Amino acid sequence: MPSSEPEPVLCLGPFMPGVEERLSRRFAVLPATPETLDAIIAEHGAAIRAMTTRGHGPTDATLMDRLPRLELIATFAVGYDTIDVAAAKARGIVVTNTPDVLTDEVADLTVGLTLATIRELPQADRFLRAGAWPKGAYPLTASLRDRSIGIVGMGRIGQAIAARLKPFGRPIAYHARRKVKGLDYEHFPDLTALAAAVDVLIVILPGGPATRGVIDAGVLQALGPRGVLINVARGSVVDEPALIAALKTGTIAAAGLDVFAQEPDVPAELIQMGNVVLLPHVGSGTHVTRAAMADLAMRNVESWFDGRGPVTPVPETPWPRD
Ligand code: GLV
Repeated sequence: MPSSEPEPVLCLGPFMPGVEERLSRRFAVLPATPETLDAIIAEHGAAIRAMTTRGHGPTDATLMDRLPRLELIATFAVGYDTIDVAAAKARGIVVTNTPDVLTDEVADLTVGLTLATIRELPQADRFLRAGAWPKGAYPLTASLRDRSIGIVGMGRIGQAIAARLKPFGRPIAYHARRKVKGLDYEHFPDLTALAAAVDVLIVILPGGPATRGVIDAGVLQALGPRGVLINVARGSVVDEPALIAALKTGTIAAAGLDVFAQEPDVPAELIQMGNVVLLPHVGSGTHVTRAAMADLAMRNVESWFDGRGPVTPVPETPWPRD
């Protein structure tokens, strides 16, 4: 029997603009921080059927067990590495993410970060602001003109990055477990072999246990002293201490990083280096794209309670259930 009480929806992490307002029109929104979560669960845990997360903290089996009626976990991101999807699946919980709506934005940013890193745009900006130009020209930089590009991960975003880079006229190759049908870029089944063959390595793999630390000392060694590493995926896919060592010793030339192992804490060693461009995880961070992501996440929650199922379930928790 339909209840007149609004359904509670647990919301972990800071709200995106407009989210609290829209969800509150229909649901009893329970905003939670790590500090307030315990008290909220103690009071409402038995009634909660849906939760949203910004994905900053873990949504693990322990949390799921404290929400015995949980049916839906909707994240406001495409990546869902902080959600234990196997635990969700085992409990019959559906997980949804926000694919497609951020693909172009992240791909645009990746091209910008790649050029900024190779052509040292932030460093040149700092040089000018420091008043150094009248004393002499900015030193010449590396170039994309004599480089080949390797993309690690050829999902939706990897393909959008490749499509944008193609008109730059440089060779493009990629590593993915399987060759992607319909793509004419060279496929390397072996990641180290790809790193050895290119000078720019762009990482756009999902995070999580399967990809943890795949960009390791061996891959960086293979990339070599002209090599530039761009990471727009997750900090976890790169062995960060190995990357810092490789940048310090000249094992690779430079890095452009939008993601880090322990966000928002970025190692001081990276901050002090001149051959890195560092961004505070802004790949999808525009008004238009974040609004589209928020809308899709909320449509998943609304559709669930309308009895229409999720809009964008992750492949591990398909709908209809298999
Ligand atoms: C951003 O990092 C996302 O996963 O959406």
